Amino acid sequence: MELTLNQQGIAYLISAVLFIFALKGLTHPATARRGNMLGMLGMAIALGATLLGSQVQDYGLILVAGTLGAVIGIVIALRIQMTAMPQLVAALHSFVGMAAVLVAIGTFVNRAQAGTLNSVLMGELSAGIVIGAITFTGSVIAFAKLQGIMSGAPIKFEGQHLLNAFMGVVTVLLAVEFALTGDIWSLLLMTLFAFALGGTLIIPIGGADMPVIISMLNSYSGWAAAATGFTLHNDLLIIVGALVGFSGAILSFIMCRAMNRSIINVIFGGFGTDSGSGDSVGAVAAEKGVKSASVEDAVYWMEDASRVIIVPGYGMAVAQAQHALKEMMELLQARGVDVKFAIHPVAGRMPGHMNVLLAEADIPYDQVLEMDEVNPQFQGADVALVVGANDVVNPAAKEDPSSPIYGMPILEAGRANQVYFLKRSMRPGYSGVDNLLFYRDNTSLIFGDAKDTIEGMATALKGGGH
Ligand code: TAP
Repeated sequence: MELTLNQQGIAYLISAVLFIFALKGLTHPATARRGNMLGMLGMAIALGATLLGSQVQDYGLILVAGTLGAVIGIVIALRIQMTAMPQLVAALHSFVGMAAVLVAIGTFVNRAQAGTLNSVLMGELSAGIVIGAITFTGSVIAFAKLQGIMSGAPIKFEGQHLLNAFMGVVTVLLAVEFALTGDIWSLLLMTLFAFALGGTLIIPIGGADMPVIISMLNSYSGWAAAATGFTLHNDLLIIVGALVGFSGAILSFIMCRAMNRSIINVIFGGFGTDSGSGDSVGAVAAEKGVKSASVEDAVYWMEDASRVIIVPGYGMAVAQAQHALKEMMELLQARGVDVKFAIHPVAGRMPGHMNVLLAEADIPYDQVLEMDEVNPQFQGADVALVVGANDVVNPAAKEDPSSPIYGMPILEAGRANQVYFLKRSMRPGYSGVDNLLFYRDNTSLIFGDAKDTIEGMATALKGGGH
């Protein structure tokens, strides 16, 4: 059976609608599963319609490539740790970028042989190659930074912005020349410059700005796919590319707003520090006299509390403490305590990280509150239990104009009557900045792995407390 172009077009339209509903579903944890299913259905229809189309030339090659890709994808999906998701996403973006470059070059070679090149087509090819190449090297660098293969700190040097501007202008000039003349040397040079630009644009970005950059690269990968769609005359690729391009850009914008950062500043880099060993901070902390507490101390304050607010962060993900937290929450609720979870938009290492983990542990959505909603509730709460979070509750963001995180909105955990931090050491969080909240009178630190500590709390609560 071979589909006509019209039938294929209708199938693509159905896929596009399903993708739009998938995005809608993914906007809330309660509907995310359905959103994913709709996306998978849309993709199955898109693949089916493409494979049954008249354009396919070699099913054997598609089968080999598809099987290889599927096997690699399944193995990665089964093995990947939740905490390594951002670098996986970066790696996947790099594939999209490279695919756009290869498709464009392949199309150039085919059309040159057939003698059917024209300026419009070569303009489209240039767009695909430039955006794809920038996405590729940018994503590879982002992957290396997040995976710890290279330092996560910004790499800066004299004249960096000037160099980037120069390379950008040269790339555009080469693209124009290629579109007008079809000269293979301008094609090659343009490709090289775009690859290099992807690297030099991303190296000055680091620290807390990385999530925004990942989502910007997501957006670029969408535009690269859309450009490929123009080249291949594939409407679905154009639509999906635009959906990814815009949703990535909107997400970047939302994250920048959550961190009170200008998107232009983030894209052109320079903010953020190494995640740091933190030894010096530890020494400073010891001098400043941080209070440490025991599990029993915290349970003493929590068991008769009227309101306890739990602030999960990256450490909860590392410790996989969400199931233990659910058990502790139920024990507290059985004692009449009102338990809420406070979610910062950039807690953890990827958008929605905390929501996904809490949903995995079946913690009801109505107990999981976003920053604006929960902040007024810290005042008068008996206990704020900060489980592996750090930067997202650091008052330096409000009080210390010299701090790199100054201006980032925070969860106001410090307003609770008692604040307990669950962490393993005095190491700082992702931004490498010391947390001023550690030194407040109402704050104590309970050292240890968050899961062990929470399990200890649950045991103490079961046993009637201290
Ligand atoms: P962080 O500030 O990174 O703090 C994590 C804390 O967890 C650290 O204090 C660490 O202290 C503790 N921890 C680690 N493993 C632990 C374990 N097994 N048990 C107990 N504690 C553990 O986390 P956050 O407050 O969630 O803030 C997120 C940061 O990451 C922000 O700076 C954000 O901008 C950045 N970021 C966010 C994203 C997205 S999109 N969410 C992506 C990349 C980066 P110890 O080592 O002493 O235990």
